[in-house]
Amino acid sequence: MSDHTTTEEALLRRKAAATQVAIAQGLLGESDPVALMLDLDHVRGAIDSVRAAFDADSTTDFCHCLAIKSNPTLRVLQYVVQQGMGLEAASLGELVQAIRAGAPAENIVFDSPVKTTEEIRFALKQGVTINLDNMPELDRVAAIAAASGDAASRYRVGLRINPQGASGSLEAFSTGTMTSKFGIGLVDARQEIIAAYKRYSWLNAIHIHVGSQGIPMDLMASGVRRMLDLVKDIHAAVGKQQITLIDIGGGMSVNFSSEEITPTFAELSETLQQAAPELFSGEYRVFTEFGRSIVAKAGFYASRLEYVKTTGGRQIALQHIGADMAIRTIYHPDKWPLRVTLLTSEGALRPVESSEALVETDIAGPCCFAGDIIAHRRPFPQLHSGEYILVHDVGGYYHSSYSKYNLRQAPAVYGFTAATPPVTLEVEHRSTTYEEFQFTLLQARETVEDTLRMFTPSD
Ligand SMILES: Cc1ncc(COP(=O)(O)O)c(C=O)c1O
Repeated sequence: MSDHTTTEEALLRRKAAATQVAIAQGLLGESDPVALMLDLDHVRGAIDSVRAAFDADSTTDFCHCLAIKSNPTLRVLQYVVQQGMGLEAASLGELVQAIRAGAPAENIVFDSPVKTTEEIRFALKQGVTINLDNMPELDRVAAIAAASGDAASRYRVGLRINPQGASGSLEAFSTGTMTSKFGIGLVDARQEIIAAYKRYSWLNAIHIHVGSQGIPMDLMASGVRRMLDLVKDIHAAVGKQQITLIDIGGGMSVNFSSEEITPTFAELSETLQQAAPELFSGEYRVFTEFGRSIVAKAGFYASRLEYVKTTGGRQIALQHIGADMAIRTIYHPDKWPLRVTLLTSEGALRPVESSEALVETDIAGPCCFAGDIIAHRRPFPQLHSGEYILVHDVGGYYHSSYSKYNLRQAPAVYGFTAATPPVTLEVEHRSTTYEEFQFTLLQARETVEDTLRMFTPSD
């Protein structure tokens, strides 16, 4: 067996073992049939990997922020803040959550694409770093600065630059295309950008983010390179090192097809060191804003099969994850396919005997429309009510994009970590020793009242 297969199996077993413990402890079962499980050891490992890749051989003061949009659960944010991460907030709600999570202002980046004047004032007052999306937004900040005297000298404010370099097949994915809604076009407005930094001495930051999933590292690196060339031109025009904060965004792709972590932070750092060595020279404080690559592979849904039926020759498993919890996958199944693993009713990996026939199966969700299927035509053996499925790589952008359609309740979120002493669990009919898992309730399951609040007048 290759090392790769061994690791793949070990990680699957770890998830199954955690699910077994959760079932045995009553966290999952008939009345709590679905939960998001977050492997906190994996999250911590990902944070350590970013640090090892970026900070180890560099004098730069890196501030690695978690993109809150990937997983805004307060206790998750508190956990990553305790590990020394900063937070990136893309809305007022996310900004308030960042403050509540205890991140210091200097480690928070606020870059909502559409900010009201009130939101800008609030963020300036908090002292967080603000990335401005467009020139009219800069005009608003300038008006506030003009009226606030000395306070402006303490601002941490920058422009979001769109290098306008992505084209062809990347048009659909990138935020750095010629006509993207994000940022200020570098090709369109290079001179205006330089003039803005010349005009406002408090503009001391700059930001670039060319996109997330599906974006090649080279595109990110070439965007960062163009931004740094712009910074040189700005400094030449201004006559001093005005920009001290560089934000290179998030956007490292995640592999959804297996347990393998590819690409890695080490590869990204290497690519950036080649293309943009200034990032590592200590000249600037550098923000990163990783989301998916920190949390996606740490999370899985465990969901109990409620009913199994066959219609028109297709096996259909009805369970608890649908368009509410997997909105991207349901509406874009080819772009966001999810791996699904079958478990027994006790949560052990369900072995498939060679004598068992595999049949085309739709793993269907609970929402009331025909397309509510999280996995189409997958080969599964005969499934049974009470068995579980694991849905992988959903630690980011699944729970966070929860939809209230059908007024269903968002599931509980559990964090788990391995601890001593070890316990023995039955996995795949083999006795395998696992560490005991300690579970923490990160977020209780939503109540019906919680859900209805959005649709019920408060008067
Ligand atoms: C401005 C900004 N920063 C960071 C991220 C996080 O990207 P990812 O989760 O792919 O790392 C995003 C994603 O949309 C973003 O728009």
